Amino acid sequence: MIIINREDFPILNKDLIYFDNGATTLKPKCVIDAMNDYYYNYGANIHRGDYKISLEASNAYEEVRNKVARFINAKSANEIVFTSGATDSLNKIVFGFMKNYLDENDEVLLTKSEHASNVLPWLELAKIKNIKIKYIPLNQQHELTIEKVKESINKNTKVISIAAITNVVGDVRDINKISKIAHENNIILVVDGAQSVPHMKTDVIKDDIDFLAFSAHKMLGPTGVGVLYGKTKYLEKMAPIEFGGGMNQYFEVDGEVEYKSIPTRFEAGTPPISEVIGLGKALDYLESIGMDKIYNYEKELKHYLINKLKKNPKIILYNESSESGILAFNLEGIFSQDTAIYLDHYNICLRAGNHCAKILKDEINIKNTCRISLYFYNTKEEIDKLVEILEKSDDLYKIIL
Ligand code: ALA
Repeated sequence: MIIINREDFPILNKDLIYFDNGATTLKPKCVIDAMNDYYYNYGANIHRGDYKISLEASNAYEEVRNKVARFINAKSANEIVFTSGATDSLNKIVFGFMKNYLDENDEVLLTKSEHASNVLPWLELAKIKNIKIKYIPLNQQHELTIEKVKESINKNTKVISIAAITNVVGDVRDINKISKIAHENNIILVVDGAQSVPHMKTDVIKDDIDFLAFSAHKMLGPTGVGVLYGKTKYLEKMAPIEFGGGMNQYFEVDGEVEYKSIPTRFEAGTPPISEVIGLGKALDYLESIGMDKIYNYEKELKHYLINKLKKNPKIILYNESSESGILAFNLEGIFSQDTAIYLDHYNICLRAGNHCAKILKDEINIKNTCRISLYFYNTKEEIDKLVEILEKSDDLYKIIL
């Protein structure tokens, strides 16, 4: 059991059970305070002002870059680019790097359980370059196996781009093994870490990850900021896809231009300063608990949840075996969004629908599910309450209509 002070999360003082952590997490007071502190006390722009509060803000911003590098064990803070979120990071990887890197007939391997942000940029790239997007088949439990990764590779495979944990079926991919296989075959590995970095220890050196994308708001931080990690050798070859202030050394009327070195070259315009500072506090908070403890606790909660839900014959579970805090289910015969509205009546928040993983329906034969996505501040008592309310769901339509 993780000991946290639930009062650290002001929103939890309400009558609220929050199980939608895959969509976004709640924010502890220290994150909100750090962001307010910036606005109240040193809210200047960064890297542009020759006065104390601008230097203070610049230092605070760059200190978070160092923190992020330590958090994911990057070799250097120069490998950390601040973006607006995982989606932005993946778009920058695809259109800033892959657009130049990939040649005609090269193949990119994805899976059908990827989030839209790790499918659509690739499909768009395939419209402008003659590359092939292929999907590694999943097993009966909708999980990615090493065997299928190996079978899907051929001499044209140049990239594998997959989530470390998927957002609906929550399968935890063996990134370490997949990266070894990828590199033995000269394949670049792109990891969507949106659902994994907040929940388990990430080590880009140990797992030899080439590119990693994740968002602050799914790990206690604010919306509007995310991270793109890339190995130096790849970032050096990545082109900026946004141009403007902050990222250039100089430019002339005739178009002569020189951009700054990495990572600043990829951060055009005024960045989300208070948000980056908030992310820094979120990392402190997560580290004060420990990522291994968080991961183990979430797995324990998920097993508890599954054991309880299995006693209800009306519940269909879709991903019992996945070792993450994500559980997809339906109440038999009930549209998932109706279940969500019913639960909301009792102030229980979860997500229903296709969860932006719109091609997953081809794997699980069902378009819509309810998704519980747990975090370390959830408790067994909250699960008991959910289970009790789902058990008395016979009156669901009386309540929601
Ligand atoms: N990607 C987020 C989710 O899975 C929004 O809910």
